[in-house]
Amino acid sequence: MSTGAIGAEVLARARALDAADPLRDLRERFALPLDERGTPLVYLCGHSLGLQPLAARELVIEELEEWAQRAVEGHEQARRPWVPYHENLRNGLAALVGARPGEVVAMNSLTVNLHLMFASFYRPVGTRRRILIEAGAFSSDRHAAASQIAWHGLDPQDNLLELAPAAGADLIEERAIEECLVEHGREIALVWWPGVQFRTGQAFDIARIARAAHAHGCLAGFDLAHSVGNTPLALHDSAADFAVWCSYKYLNAGPGAIGGCFVHERHTGALPRSAHRGALPGARLAGWWGHEAETRFLMEAQFHAAAGADSWQVSNPPILAAAPLVASLALFAAAGSARLREKSLALTGFMEELLRPLEPGVRIITPREPVARGCQLSLRVAGGAGPGRRVFEQLRAAGVVCDWRAPDIIRVAPVPLYNRFEDIAQFAERLSRLLWGGV
Ligand SMILES: Cc1ncc(COP(=O)(O)O)c(C=O)c1O
Repeated sequence: MSTGAIGAEVLARARALDAADPLRDLRERFALPLDERGTPLVYLCGHSLGLQPLAARELVIEELEEWAQRAVEGHEQARRPWVPYHENLRNGLAALVGARPGEVVAMNSLTVNLHLMFASFYRPVGTRRRILIEAGAFSSDRHAAASQIAWHGLDPQDNLLELAPAAGADLIEERAIEECLVEHGREIALVWWPGVQFRTGQAFDIARIARAAHAHGCLAGFDLAHSVGNTPLALHDSAADFAVWCSYKYLNAGPGAIGGCFVHERHTGALPRSAHRGALPGARLAGWWGHEAETRFLMEAQFHAAAGADSWQVSNPPILAAAPLVASLALFAAAGSARLREKSLALTGFMEELLRPLEPGVRIITPREPVARGCQLSLRVAGGAGPGRRVFEQLRAAGVVCDWRAPDIIRVAPVPLYNRFEDIAQFAERLSRLLWGGV
């Protein structure tokens, strides 16, 4: 390892790549965080919180103005009326997750949606009671799954089946999931899996997992927190039963922004509008916003489900938490998914190229194959958590924003909407100096 690995020549190459990037102007449409001297930070943390689209502020202010001027009449008369506000998000979200428009809805936040989905899709019966989940799942997913099992009067100890990577490995191969289903499929009611693993950045083959689950009579749901806006998705064709996501990461909709949800149309297509009780597909935890819009305000006792995923809505939408997503989805539409993915592969490939010479001082644990990852790379520093944490803190002091995930991972993600090749060169330069300096 030497600082010579990254220097003027690499910087020049990065700048040339930026100059040739057809999406380079999009960066100007985001607020770039600055250090105390007013210099833009090297922001590589879109996997945690995406940057603010400048238009988000305008759209939020617009809604505050509507509220100030129209008050209750804004529900019907705002420029974007509040009652059907989620319609502003439908097509953009459907395009990003590869769904039919009626299969998606923006609502609530991720874990709340997860519980609402589990209420419908986790129906333990007889000996088929278990939830298959990855060991080391995001804490909220595990808490939700375990509490759902307990909610049904069952013991999470016996019924939460946690599949770990092979000994000494960081990643779980899809083959291992298939083998687990061969062995335990008859006991499993639901497979709950991430699209992209939050700690390692590994992207899973959703269609393959859904196919394996269905072959054993299980349902398959997916947490797309780290997938949506990051990796190509084809939820409808993958036959996933349902999925949930948040929109403060790659969707750039701001802290606590409105989440989203997918329900495959085979679960709702043939649903009688009055169906609400009993087994799937009618069963759900309902609220007035899931009632068909035409008759919602008749306030009748009988629940008439809206068509598609909309029927899982419970409450009226949080307009101020949804407006930034309107701004962000417009940027995705302008950029185009194919071009974004192309740039994402180039950015992450460039980062990998610059980091490989730093091995073994720092090691990438994210898969090498582009199909098995999004933009995030997860790094482990030689020597374990202590040195790793120090490198992470020194990176921040050197103006690089990334994050730390226990026990020993630094996550970095170049986001194609706003990151430049130069950001990556700067990051690699600073990291190599820290490692060279004997951290
Ligand atoms: C994989 C994953 N699942 C669940 C959550 C929890 O999300 P929320 O707080 O929006 O429910 C997060 C948040 O970062 C996440 O990354």
